[in-house]
Amino acid sequence: MSLFRTKAINADLSCDTGLKRCLSALDLTLLGIGAIIGAGIFVLTGKAAATQAGPAIVLSFVVSGIACTFSALAYAELAASVGGCGSAYGYAYAGFGELFAWIIGWDLILEYGVATPTVAIGWSGYFNNALTALGLGLPATLLHPPFGEEISGYINLPAASILLLLSILLAIGIRVSAHFNAIMVVVKLAAISIFITIALFHINPENWHPFVPFGVSGIMGGAALVFFAYIGFDAVSTAAEETTNPQRNLPIGILASLAICTVIYIVVSGLLTGIAPYQTLDTPSPVAEVLLRLGKNWAAGLIAAGAIAGLTTVMLVLYYGLTRVFLAMSRDGLLPPVFATVNKRTQTPIRIILVSGLLMATVAGFMPIRIVAELVNIGTMAAFVLVCGGVIILRYRHPNLHRPFKSPFSPLFPVLGIIACLALMLSLPLVTWLRFFIWLAIGMVIYFSYSREHSLLAQEQA
Ligand code: ALA
Repeated sequence: MSLFRTKAINADLSCDTGLKRCLSALDLTLLGIGAIIGAGIFVLTGKAAATQAGPAIVLSFVVSGIACTFSALAYAELAASVGGCGSAYGYAYAGFGELFAWIIGWDLILEYGVATPTVAIGWSGYFNNALTALGLGLPATLLHPPFGEEISGYINLPAASILLLLSILLAIGIRVSAHFNAIMVVVKLAAISIFITIALFHINPENWHPFVPFGVSGIMGGAALVFFAYIGFDAVSTAAEETTNPQRNLPIGILASLAICTVIYIVVSGLLTGIAPYQTLDTPSPVAEVLLRLGKNWAAGLIAAGAIAGLTTVMLVLYYGLTRVFLAMSRDGLLPPVFATVNKRTQTPIRIILVSGLLMATVAGFMPIRIVAELVNIGTMAAFVLVCGGVIILRYRHPNLHRPFKSPFSPLFPVLGIIACLALMLSLPLVTWLRFFIWLAIGMVIYFSYSREHSLLAQEQA
């Protein structure tokens, strides 16, 4: 059936697609760390420990980390063998056909397009704290949207502004963006190292009793929440067309960034609940706050600086991922082809960058985005399920495809990835599922009213 027409796999993954091919394995690993460590650890961990898992938040990070590892292995295999800047969208086009590709592309737009403004709002809070410390704090009317939150204002000005600034950075070029990302990643890793060093000397083992106050369901609920902290390694795969030697460098970037961040998360969350009773951690900036409680004001300030840097890189890389998926879908005709051009001078898709930047800045500035923020997790888990499924289908359909990296123990690992992500999805509230289905339904309307007809593959086959 035409809906399930699949795209041929381009054997030359190093071909010129107009984007600048310059990223190394180290750049990709730093991009991954840039996208991964952010609001999840600096903001959400406290809430997850206080309300869901208690000190067993460490186990929540382990559970989510395992689900992500299976998925990352699947991403690494497909990124190295199928490639393309559309990431999971492109893999689905080759494995499952156009309709599934559309669904997953639409899903990735949700993941990156909602996560980026959500993180911008968290960034705005930290940024205003820093301004307040300097005596320059903004009035509440410039920190809140006009409706939907407890305090009403005119606009969340810092959130909207940072997205517009990042759009300029991304438009200038991938090399400059990657340099900026690398510097910010160093700042956030330094801040985390300071936290770990201080926390090691202030552990009170009493705080770890009881270790599992909310039972297994608490661990799973916590895992579904802190899953957000892992999101981002998948965005590395959208750099496929800007990577030198993608068959080797993409798997390294995806797997190394995830491994490094998993270790960091387990250590930080364990220490956090070791130095403060878990019940006291439900605050917007738990990592900085526990240091304040220890009287380490200077360290709390550095952590806040690290969080600002950390959230900046998360926005940068997720925004970047959004533009590349958008580009791939426009090139295939599923979104308007006017977006499919890459600027010759900067070698970036400037139109997409500016349009999506304006849209996200509007959302971050004027909408109560927190209401839909949890959609990011369910959307990403759904994408991971399809990517793990893609590995199994493509091994069956294209057994001779050149696979420079192979997910080990296939189909066992991809199946475990599917089960783990589905289990996490089932731990999310019903209202999140409903909102997710509404998003998919809107996508279906667009597909059947526009994309199906304008699909280049459909036109070629006709
Ligand atoms: N993993 C990213 C964060 O925690 C999305 O902010």
